[in-house]
Amino acid sequence: MTNLNNLFDRGMELHYIANTAYPLTPTSVREYAIKGEEAVNAFLAQEYKQINELCLYVHIPFCKTRCKFCEYVVVSGSEAELKDKYLDAVLKEIELYSEIVGNDTRILGFDIGGGTPTELGAARIEKITNKLLNTFNLTDEISWSIETTPYNAIHKFDELKDIRELGFRRLSMGVQTINKDLLRKMEREGDTLLYRRAVEAIRKAGFKQFNVDLMYGFKEQSIEDFESTVEYAVSLFPEYITLYEMRYKLTQIATDAFDVTRAKVNQQYRIAYEILTQNGYKANYGKNTFSRIANDHGTSDYLTHRVINATPYLGLGAGAQSLGLNYLAYNQGAATKSILKYISNIEKGIFPIQDIYQLPEEEMMAKALSVMFYFGFVNLKAFKQRFNKEFINVFEKEIDYLKQWNLAEIDDNQFTVTKNGMDHLSGVIPMFYSERSKNELMTMNIEKVLK
Ligand SMILES: C[S@@+](CC[C@H](N)C(=O)[O-])C[C@H]1O[C@@H](n2cnc3c(N)ncnc32)[C@H](O)[C@@H]1O
Ligand code: SF4
Repeated sequence: MTNLNNLFDRGMELHYIANTAYPLTPTSVREYAIKGEEAVNAFLAQEYKQINELCLYVHIPFCKTRCKFCEYVVVSGSEAELKDKYLDAVLKEIELYSEIVGNDTRILGFDIGGGTPTELGAARIEKITNKLLNTFNLTDEISWSIETTPYNAIHKFDELKDIRELGFRRLSMGVQTINKDLLRKMEREGDTLLYRRAVEAIRKAGFKQFNVDLMYGFKEQSIEDFESTVEYAVSLFPEYITLYEMRYKLTQIATDAFDVTRAKVNQQYRIAYEILTQNGYKANYGKNTFSRIANDHGTSDYLTHRVINATPYLGLGAGAQSLGLNYLAYNQGAATKSILKYISNIEKGIFPIQDIYQLPEEEMMAKALSVMFYFGFVNLKAFKQRFNKEFINVFEKEIDYLKQWNLAEIDDNQFTVTKNGMDHLSGVIPMFYSERSKNELMTMNIEKVLK
């Protein structure tokens, strides 16, 4: 059994990998792979019989240009011209799942993300929402959420209005930074005037749940630099502001990770936290999404259910991830960042899944808990409901260790990572890994994993 002190230290050392993303690498859980079309079909049919609450995600892998820091499946070159073929494939994928997802399965959250979904255009998005409404138990009582870039908010304004009318209430836009040099290095379009005009367009289109994404933890980003970006974001007065710590794994700037210290990243977060809370944006310390609306976590319904309740989610589209009660899957394109195989699988009438793993409970718990720390707490009732076990019994030793070092505290309702714990989150999260994954973290060759 891994010594908890050593595990904590190793998590702190490899802070850029021991984060809320689990498992650690794309091949970590390969021993649990389900192989062969028939076995996959039979497994999924059985799995969806047991799922009665579900979130939906649709991935749109198109952007005007690709930013160098981006970790998502985004296509370029000739594949970027395949929007109509891609749309047809997504519609057919929905049909494939209609055969196994029951009409009585309640849909608790729905996000269209990317990439840049607005790049697809409102008419194509309408085809997707109509298909989903006709297929699943989806209603507009839940808050649907979608993403845009500032450029598209301005230059596709009529489409933005149409998207609002389709039923999307929450809109998220990436600002990332106002530092011109950093934007240039990342090959991303943006400046303060563009952002302000984008916000005007978004408000005019009628969005009242508006989120701005900011990024920190870049090699060339000083503390002061991030501070001015956060102050600028506050001046845009969105309902929500989300801070993304740069995740380097498998990005075009992966090796920059070695020049970013935990101390700097923590300080950037701490300063942002102060500015945001002083300006009425609330979040418990360590949480990434800040909200100025009372009783609203600020995240989409889709993400809120995933994080707090470990609600299963079905990801549609190239590279999308799905999590069931007993499985984790990645659609075709997750590894290649291409949409061709995704489209060809669907044309053959087969689930466009690149990898699917039937995970033991210990792995499902590790996955769920890693994501829960995105909010910095575990709701004990939600954990019990999902796993039919008491959190304090399963992790007695780990909880004692974290309490002893003032990294976490627990009451009758909630296990909460303390401020100190949040500053050491990459040491805290591995406490809840499976034995296999703890061992993997302790022995991995980090240079090989990052590239
Ligand atoms: C799908 S993207 C954004 C939507 C839109 N395409 C844009 O760029 O404005 C969602 C957010 O993920 C964040 N992001 C992208 N790459 C990241 C990375 N490598 N690590 C952490 N966050 C990242 C950015 O803040 C981005 O706004
Ligand atoms: S950050 Fe947004 S615009 Fe840039 S490549 Fe990623 S998804 Fe596209």
